[in-house]
Amino acid sequence: MNTRTLGPFTVSAIGLGAMPVSMNNAGEVPDERQAIATIHAALDAGVTYIDTADIYAPSWDTMGHNERIVGKALRAYGNHDGVVVGTKGGITRGPGETWGRDGSPEYLRSAVQKSLDALGVDVIDLYQWHRPDRWRAYADVIATFGRLRDEGLIRAVGISNADVEEIDIAVEVLGEGGLASVQNEFSPAFRNSEDELEHCGELGVAFLPWSPLGGTGGGAVEVGERFGSIGEIARDHGVSPQQVVLAWELAKGDHVIPIPGARRPQSIVDSAKAADLTLSADELARIDADR
Ligand SMILES: NC(=O)c1ccc[n+]([C@@H]2O[C@H](COP(=O)([O-])OP(=O)(O)OC[C@H]3O[C@@H](n4cnc5c(N)ncnc54)[C@H](OP(=O)(O)O)[C@@H]3O)[C@@H](O)[C@H]2O)c1
Repeated sequence: MNTRTLGPFTVSAIGLGAMPVSMNNAGEVPDERQAIATIHAALDAGVTYIDTADIYAPSWDTMGHNERIVGKALRAYGNHDGVVVGTKGGITRGPGETWGRDGSPEYLRSAVQKSLDALGVDVIDLYQWHRPDRWRAYADVIATFGRLRDEGLIRAVGISNADVEEIDIAVEVLGEGGLASVQNEFSPAFRNSEDELEHCGELGVAFLPWSPLGGTGGGAVEVGERFGSIGEIARDHGVSPQQVVLAWELAKGDHVIPIPGARRPQSIVDSAKAADLTLSADELARIDADR
């Protein structure tokens, strides 16, 4: 598969969002065998970026579930040199499924330690701040990530659910080339992060659209019906609407690396083919206009 730059790494243009095998809006989590088969199918298809997070788990008391599956799948695969794993921290889950945020240095350090254990690695490739803790100055939390990187616990720092101002703060605190990626929601159904996507292009920072197909709640599966242009273009090319969506996102800039989620091997195998699908300027404009 053709590749793109993600901070210090070179990864496949299409990544795998591993979340749905541990948590999804349909509430149906596959068994571990299918989860691992899905990750192996991604690797077989040339995917070399896998996205996970500590909170991706069926319940609050199984946090780390998704990271453990990703780690297990990679070890079972054998040689996975060149495969980059990105995880995230900063969101908390507690008894009674209470959700919160914690950007304190103590919490983030312990979260990184738990992710290292769950993934079964000595260093995390990409560690992303999952969501801002609005009780803390953005720059202070970014500085914590910088220290964790300087200490060698993580290789690269990313942020998620950030606006343009926060991206600029992260770049300033981490220094030239210090911010590897920004992961924001972006799909045909959710275009509110166009400014951040563009800004990352100007800065040379990778932009990872999350829920790039519209999410696990039905948005992804029905994207070809909901957006007429996407369904038509898919029929013209003889490909799935999901491939058309991902090709449209890839065409937004060389810094864009969509991370479609999958519970089934077929989904990611199909999505991976989007890396080879080129849409014409007219097709891209039709999707842009179809809101
Ligand atoms: N940073 C954040 O705050 C945040 C928030 C949410 C998600 N994320 C990340 O973004 C990743 C992707 O988001 P997502 O999983 O919510 O939504 P998504 O990628 O928009 O949609 C995933 C769904 O699309 C289906 N699908 C994927 N490829 C397909 C294809 N080629 N044909 C037909 N169906 C296809 C999958 O079906 P099957 O399940 O049947 O395989 C899956 O249920 C997550 O895994 C996670 O890593 C990040």
